[in-house]
Amino acid sequence: MSINMTAKHARWPKANDVIFGLAGQAAEAIKKYGKENVINSTIGALIDDKGDLIAMKTVYEQFKALPNAEIAAYSAIAGQPDFLEAVQTACFRDHRPDAYTRAVATPGGTGSIKHAVWNYTNPGDEVLTSDWYWSPYNTITEEVDRKITNYKLFNDKNEFNIESFKEKFNELIKKQKRLLTIINTPAHNPTGYSLSDEDWKQVLDIMKESAKDKDNRIIVFVDSAYIDFAGEGTERRKFFEQFSNLPENILIIVGFSMSKGYTMYGLRSGAAICISSKEEIAEEFFYACIHSGRANWSNGNRGAMATMTTIANDEKLLKAYEDEKLMYKTMLQNRAKAFVEAADKVGLELLPYRDGFFISIPCDNPMEACQKLVDQNVFVIPLKMGLRFAVCAVSEEKCKKAPALIKEALK
Ligand SMILES: Cc1ncc(COP(=O)(O)O)c(C=O)c1O
Repeated sequence: MSINMTAKHARWPKANDVIFGLAGQAAEAIKKYGKENVINSTIGALIDDKGDLIAMKTVYEQFKALPNAEIAAYSAIAGQPDFLEAVQTACFRDHRPDAYTRAVATPGGTGSIKHAVWNYTNPGDEVLTSDWYWSPYNTITEEVDRKITNYKLFNDKNEFNIESFKEKFNELIKKQKRLLTIINTPAHNPTGYSLSDEDWKQVLDIMKESAKDKDNRIIVFVDSAYIDFAGEGTERRKFFEQFSNLPENILIIVGFSMSKGYTMYGLRSGAAICISSKEEIAEEFFYACIHSGRANWSNGNRGAMATMTTIANDEKLLKAYEDEKLMYKTMLQNRAKAFVEAADKVGLELLPYRDGFFISIPCDNPMEACQKLVDQNVFVIPLKMGLRFAVCAVSEEKCKKAPALIKEALK
């Protein structure tokens, strides 16, 4: 056994990312058997029917038209001022809450999660999220000596499990007096669930009750990474209005990502946007985050910010961008509909899907099922409690075929 050079806190199990591993196997299978004979649903990005990554034309035309110096320059630590305006409009659209808001640019939605975890929890704290969740929440929290605790996302009737949420929320707030809850909605990864406006009302009622204890500090992180691909029009943004006039000890932080909505995955841009009934609390958020920003990544991607601002401030460009995005949203919705209908036909059980890139299939032996599917040239992601199928990456035609193959593998 050789010595450790890393500090104690930096020693983690040697793990290869399962997703990238399976994506590699899928690429091999495509080479060997041809695209038409492989279903690769491992990738969490929009892929066209030919198997190529979608990069929105209306976005990259503007990005590439920027002067070199605008792409090359540093941005302000907090993000460019015009971007900080544009990103709030892009996030809230016509459902802006009646509250004080402040935004800080972050490298993707991931940076905003880091800000929330670091600045709003103490070492050793438990962070609450649902039992089906995006695994980097765990990576981000354990890195800084916090840990994830789960409530059950669904009850026996496959509805949002408000009872389980209430129980865990009350247990942790009682113990810690400070609680960060991460809610990934709309278009949850990996299930595709979106909290209804009524679900949100119930969640906020529980929090408001708890906020009567003035010593409690309640922070809600709304991970909206997939919001641009949810619902019709802006209906899936209506819940933002419920963040109006909250008690001052409830703070909302929205994680906004440009990765999916602008197909800028690798360009690393987004924002953390806070919502508070108190101006000083919003300002406190701002200064805490710019300190963290400086300490972690210094500043964000100026070219990505400028692209959003250019599009947002030009009616014609904005319309063209929205039209292009709608075309891909419709493509995604058609694929998901095909998958859900085909699953229904063959009696494959799914978790309640509403929107977004992924659909989950609960099962007992995800690893075994995944391996059986690999043998059929179907590549899905094994999770702790089931399989994740990425409709974002698979053509409608293949989305129709996959449920029968998955049903067979689960027998
Ligand atoms: C649930 C969820 N949150 C946040 C993100 C953030 O992504 P990014 O940092 O690329 O914006 C992702 C991306 O896959 C995600 O799936």
